[in-house]
Amino acid sequence: MSFTLVEQATPRLNRSELAVPGSRTELFEKAAQSDVDVIFLDCEDAVAPDEKEQARKNIIEALNDIDWGKKTMSVRINGLDTHYMYRDVVDILEQGGERLDMIMIPKVGTAADVYAVDMLVTQVEAAVKRKKAIGFELIIETALGMANVDEIAGASKRNESLHFGVADYAASTKARTTVIGGPHPDYGVLTDRDGDAPRDYHWGDMWHYAISRMVVAARANGLRPVDGPFGDFSDPDGYRAQANRAGVLGCEGKWAIHPSQVALANELFSPSDADVTKAKRILEAMEQAQKEGKGAVSLDGRLIDIASIKQAENLVAKAAVIAGN
Ligand code: COA
Ligand code: MG
Repeated sequence: MSFTLVEQATPRLNRSELAVPGSRTELFEKAAQSDVDVIFLDCEDAVAPDEKEQARKNIIEALNDIDWGKKTMSVRINGLDTHYMYRDVVDILEQGGERLDMIMIPKVGTAADVYAVDMLVTQVEAAVKRKKAIGFELIIETALGMANVDEIAGASKRNESLHFGVADYAASTKARTTVIGGPHPDYGVLTDRDGDAPRDYHWGDMWHYAISRMVVAARANGLRPVDGPFGDFSDPDGYRAQANRAGVLGCEGKWAIHPSQVALANELFSPSDADVTKAKRILEAMEQAQKEGKGAVSLDGRLIDIASIKQAENLVAKAAVIAGN
């Protein structure tokens, strides 16, 4: 282990995160009744400019009046390049009560963006004598944000999670796609020519680098990495495949832009019973190995060693949190 220990952010279940436009009040109760882990009420891009003021008011009312149960509550504020953002922070923190847990900052480009919002939030919290400190969720969705992702991840004690905003990222990098998440048919590998034998074309994952890069920055700073939206809510198999790719790389969860995606995310980002049983067996085998003074042993014909303990412990701990939820 390095002498530098990574401090972990406030632990929260973040398997699923439902986007709810602040302008669509009819969706609020449905979101509150759902099984989602985190809800973000949106002031930003799901709200048209003419509706910004009203959406902010709706959100303040909903934070005060709706029973959100045990869900983690967040509000996505407008970007720092707009004139809406300061009032989003000030009004929502002054009038929204204590129920809000986090603020989501979109299109973060530099560590100074986080610093600026931290300054504002800190002032309002002190002025209203807020008991609970607001955490930050940061969307990495621009080339600038990805270029500065390490500094951004370490920019505030409030930081809790990094989110990959695939559509804005595609726009910012001028990636050749217009869909929200998922693969692109032109991003693939054609096998070499071999006489007249038919050649295979394998689709690749055009988001692999971006998500991996974000995961490393998040984990190196004790934050949760979360995969963003998958726009085609009529394609659960596509969602499943994208969520699994992100999960395998280390993401803790994925956004849902439609209620039908919530159960998928909860399932895909929860360890299966088989995973938990296997992890428990690894822990038992390693305990026995350590009693016998061994650092590495075999289980079911595979190597397990000290590193396996941490992996297995993480999995068992996650399952316990889910069971207690
Ligand atoms: N939160 C809570 N409930 C939602 C919801 C959401 N985000 N999206 C849809 N619902 C509800 C609908 O009201 C509907 O309820 P009903 O059956 O009681 O009438 C039900 O779920 C099915 O919705 P459906 O008719 O299939 O969808 P829609 O046409 O009303 O809305 C979208 C589709 C995509 C416009 C809508 O899901 C949405 O606005 N999603 C969020 C988008 C967003 O926030 N984007 C920004 C982040 S990328
Ligand atoms: Mg965006």
